[in-house]
Amino acid sequence: DAGAAAPLRIALVGMPGSGKSTVGRHLARRLRLPFADLDQLLEQQLGTSIRQHFETHGEQDFRDREAALLADLARAGGPLVLSTGGGAVLREANRQALRAGFDPVIYLRASADEIFRRIRHDRSRPLLQVSDPLDQLRQLHRVRDPLYREVAHHAVEARRPSVQRLVQLVVAQL
Ligand code: S3P
Repeated sequence: DAGAAAPLRIALVGMPGSGKSTVGRHLARRLRLPFADLDQLLEQQLGTSIRQHFETHGEQDFRDREAALLADLARAGGPLVLSTGGGAVLREANRQALRAGFDPVIYLRASADEIFRRIRHDRSRPLLQVSDPLDQLRQLHRVRDPLYREVAHHAVEARRPSVQRLVQLVVAQL
């Protein structure tokens, strides 16, 4: 009906370790919106950790489930702040779902080196369980940075003195 504002639906995209979950949670609290974390919802659905699921069922199966859940969330109408997994932008269908279901989509931009410093000791990330995780992050960044840019309405630099400051910047862009 005329005058009724569309519900605010914000999605955060970016590399693993760019702070999507932390920023998303704070942003939702600040805006008094519900918050969902795609990885966390998937882990609830899977009944196990993403790392464990990668090991037992492989990445492809994970990506199929991720795509199905993202499509559901994109179709659901209500207000929401959604943090996605770093690989959610890889499929064209997911990028379309993000653009169709969320406005704005925000890219938390961070360099591979910065991310490496943040998550080098984090064992929970299956894609970084390789002999040279920094090189792996650089390769992921090279492939994905254009996809994050393509899908996002805005980019914000993830490297900020505080989460609060970063949230302020995102809110200022709404
Ligand atoms: C992945 C990132 C993870 C998780 C899965 C795959 C990726 O999410 O979805 O391990 O391909 O970058 P985060 O970005 O929250 O770490």
